[in-house]
Amino acid sequence: MSPFHVTRTLPEDTTDAALRADVREGLAGSPKTLPPKWFYDARGSELFEEITALPEYYPTRAEREILRARAGEIAAASGARTLVELGSGSSEKTRHLIDALTGLRAYVPVDVSESALTLAGRALAAERPGLDVHAMVADFTALPALPDTPGPRLVAFLGGTIGNLLPAERAAFLASVRALLAPGDALLLGTDLVKDEKVLVRAYDDAAGVTAAFNKNVLSVINRELGADFDPDTFDHVALWDAGHEWIEMRLRSRITQTVKIPSLGLAVDFAAGEDLRTEVSAKFRRNGVRKELAAAGLEPVRWWTDGEARFALSLSVAR
Ligand code: SAH
Ligand code: AVI
Repeated sequence: MSPFHVTRTLPEDTTDAALRADVREGLAGSPKTLPPKWFYDARGSELFEEITALPEYYPTRAEREILRARAGEIAAASGARTLVELGSGSSEKTRHLIDALTGLRAYVPVDVSESALTLAGRALAAERPGLDVHAMVADFTALPALPDTPGPRLVAFLGGTIGNLLPAERAAFLASVRALLAPGDALLLGTDLVKDEKVLVRAYDDAAGVTAAFNKNVLSVINRELGADFDPDTFDHVALWDAGHEWIEMRLRSRITQTVKIPSLGLAVDFAAGEDLRTEVSAKFRRNGVRKELAAAGLEPVRWWTDGEARFALSLSVAR
């Protein structure tokens, strides 16, 4: 069994303060919004794993196909001795990279979901003798100092999670990743690609209703953490394609006129019947757009791979 450490970079009350601030600000706005990172308590992380196996949700399968085919090339190009993974979740696809990186000494998964991190980190430490697994409970939009592990470093950000950030957040995030890279380090970035609207909407509105449950889970998180009285049954799951922004939006639409109480914030939030709360954007990308966003952050893509149906892309970038 390899060493397994979990570092909490923030005291627990900081997470609580961040949730309170996000809920207060997001529900006061018009339209009402919430940041998607609050989906991922233990139940939300389980529901996301169920989503990845749905017939309609192609991104995980498409990215896995690329990783299976290209892990050897990625490993040869990076020669990484430390793999840092942002928003690592179950680390399931990452195993292809870990296996291919023959000189790998340390794996540093970073995630807000402590349950997902602990489960994945313990399993990897047990499976890969000699690999130092240093899990970090942290927000990847406010990256803390990384542990002192050997370079070169490969930073992986898989799953298309970059699409869950708004454009200005993406720019700030990519600049912060650029700041982590020393000469010889690289960024491996997964981006879901623009495609037929029906395929996209189906991926976010599956027949079994798992994505609807995932979406509504954020209301249960707020009920539990802030003592709110959201009734998830009074909201409908909505997934729509915004062709102007080229992103999917997930929303929760109030079926009725209602007032939700959040006692720990001293708030009473009014919803009109049919009013939406935006819970997530999931941006879809084109190659040129990815190149421009990387360049603006001082990053240069040196490789670009897609799956056989060109649904999803992985790019490998270095600091310019
Ligand atoms: N990389 C995995 C999981 C993607 S789901 C895959 O490709 O399947 C998105 C993951 O990012 C979840 O595990 C979630 O807990 C994490 N996450 C979301 N927002 C985050 C944030 N701001 N900081 C750190 N982790 C975050
Ligand atoms: C984590 N992220 C890339 C997922 C996505 O596709 O945007 C989250 C998700 N939301 C609904 N289904 C999956």
